[in-house]
Amino acid sequence: MTNAFEKFYKKSISGRRAVIKKSANLSPSELKLFENALGSQNADQIIENVVGTYELPLGIATNFVVNGRQVVVPMAVEEPSVVAAASNAAKLCKATGGFKTKASKPEMIGQIQLVKVKNPASALKKIIKEKKNLVKIANSRDPLLVKYGGGARDIEAKTIFAGRKKMVIIYLTVDVRDAMGANAVNTMCEAIAPELERMSGGIARLRIISNLAVKRTAKAKAVWKKKDLEKSAKGTGMTGQEIVDAIIESYELAENDIYRCATHNKGIMNGVDAIAVACGQDWRAIEAGAHAFAAKTGQYKSLTKYSKDKQGNLVGEIEIPVAVGIVGGAIKAQPLAQLCVKLTGVKTAQELGEIIAAVGLAQNFAALRALSTEGIQRGHMRLHARMQGEKK
Ligand code: MEV
Repeated sequence: MTNAFEKFYKKSISGRRAVIKKSANLSPSELKLFENALGSQNADQIIENVVGTYELPLGIATNFVVNGRQVVVPMAVEEPSVVAAASNAAKLCKATGGFKTKASKPEMIGQIQLVKVKNPASALKKIIKEKKNLVKIANSRDPLLVKYGGGARDIEAKTIFAGRKKMVIIYLTVDVRDAMGANAVNTMCEAIAPELERMSGGIARLRIISNLAVKRTAKAKAVWKKKDLEKSAKGTGMTGQEIVDAIIESYELAENDIYRCATHNKGIMNGVDAIAVACGQDWRAIEAGAHAFAAKTGQYKSLTKYSKDKQGNLVGEIEIPVAVGIVGGAIKAQPLAQLCVKLTGVKTAQELGEIIAAVGLAQNFAALRALSTEGIQRGHMRLHARMQGEKK
């Protein structure tokens, strides 16, 4: 089978669009969105005090194989070399089958803060006893979500000490299906708050989604063969084994040094944010979730892990919260974002999350490979320059 994306970077913009048009079967009006994505009139419906729109470059990362399927990865980002590096990382693990991914259920957590509770212990007991009823009240607020197989699932509660005060915090788990979920979760939190006040005798203050989506994560894994790594860094004189070891050492540094870990995880988010922005996601929510997840043990850690397999090849893994949606929210008002989701070929938010995880891993691998071999300035900048120079 010929690969339509072969030497994609060498094509002109219209040549690349022709490839995308054919591969995703785009209509002429869809194609036009690459030139005129939103327009001020639409923008005026989305936020307040609009004076115009703001553009970013939109590129396509190629070579991604995710769970055996070739995936087109749209990336909106202003930083040179991000798209090239992701494409190169994906190419280098094609020989081992690309990325294997797995998403958890699309479950988000909402929080209700109860203050001035006289007897927190007895309030906790009552709330847990009434769990089923509370879940029912929450679900009564979103029959459509329930119809599509989602809805409130569970309630947990705990006491938090804030200085000398005690607060009761309720955690509502909601399966939000293909939505990002903020609207559904916030509505449900507000719906059960009066009941919680009645049961506890306290006052419900904050009623809001948590961006630490620990129950909604995606994992991705890939293997990079040491011989392919050696070939890719020919000029450095390093052997494949040396490169594998150097990448593992760079990961170990991130695991044990917060200064490096911030930069390491930033490199992951270069990829994650770029596809998230292209696909119309709330990337601040994804950023907040990723960094809180990285610190969930109380120490800020790497979102990726690297090890060696029996043959000495490099195994990379990632787990990242993916609060993303393909229906509702901001995406509904952004035709180009909808088109980008279409390009990825995903049918569910879980699949989009899996691709995002794969892109995050690819981006991190690319940075570590460059840093561990020829250095980022030479490595990535040369990749960028080569792509610019080789264009027709
Ligand atoms: C630059 O945007 C990202 C890197 O600094 C990431 C890293 O150091 O791992 C290259």
